[in-house]
Amino acid sequence: MILTTAVQTRFAEEVRAGLTKPGQKELPSKYLYDAVGSRLFDVITELPEYGLTRAESRILERHSREIAARVPHNVAIAELGSGSGTKTRRILDALCRDHQARYFPIEISATALAACEREMRDIATVSVVGIEREYLDGLLEVAARRRAGEHLLVLFLGSTIGNFEPAAALAFLRKIRTMLDPSDFLLLGTDLLKPVPVLLDAYDDPVGVTAAFNLNLLARINRELGGHFVLSQFEHVAQFNETARSIEMHLRSRQAQTVAIAAAEITVEFEAGETIWTESSHKYRLSQVSSMAADSGFKCAAQWIDEAWGFAENLWMAG
Ligand code: TRP
Repeated sequence: MILTTAVQTRFAEEVRAGLTKPGQKELPSKYLYDAVGSRLFDVITELPEYGLTRAESRILERHSREIAARVPHNVAIAELGSGSGTKTRRILDALCRDHQARYFPIEISATALAACEREMRDIATVSVVGIEREYLDGLLEVAARRRAGEHLLVLFLGSTIGNFEPAAALAFLRKIRTMLDPSDFLLLGTDLLKPVPVLLDAYDDPVGVTAAFNLNLLARINRELGGHFVLSQFEHVAQFNETARSIEMHLRSRQAQTVAIAAAEITVEFEAGETIWTESSHKYRLSQVSSMAADSGFKCAAQWIDEAWGFAENLWMAG
């Protein structure tokens, strides 16, 4: 049985819009993270080829005390896309050593939110309030709950900013900036440019976990929207776009075919070799990171770099 909730209706509408779009078909990457997708992504973060998460964890492990020292004590922490919260734990442990803080994970994945709440439950000085909303709506809600004199630290880890197109990334950062006071902070993870073969392996691992993660989006459409995708008729593709300096993820139709999706009220035609674009992951030069800060109204307060993989953690101040 297909249940129709507001979330499902929205999902159906976005699938319809993306797959009926003239030219390049696309699906929004936020739908990769259902219960199955979130778990597959957790496996990706353990793959030897995907060094990104480990690099950021190393930075947070090594420098969490320094990060905490730069942020005011009276702070509410809002995290955009908490995932399972393992990385954040390190920051919260350091920030809340001897004082109380409120932590608001903002997540559209209920599974991830529940895992994150479980992960933080035993830190006595942290009170966790999960917010099941999209990033900016969620942040608006946190800002509205801010107490007098309380500062805000926004966490946007994992280089998720790189999953936005550059113009959208800038617009997004500017939006965040408008919700902050001058003495608030943003901790932003940015994955750095590295040799193309390393990137291709990271986004198309030999075991096929990344392929399963990407293909699960079609399986999810089948499960939740009455889609008729035959998964073996599609393949995961990762390619590097030199001009944009981004890895592009697609699902390629192995042959000409027609796929009906009941809840989206569409039948989609695919040519042999035609792709659905599911996500891009931009890789940054350090100079680009600095200009993003300046262009969105932030000041760089500090930066920590993991040289082994090539990842920068940036602490920006709103003022
Ligand atoms: N945000 C992650 C990244 O850009 C997500 C990701 C990893 C991903 N592998 C993927 C998204 C494969 C789609 C397909 O690193």
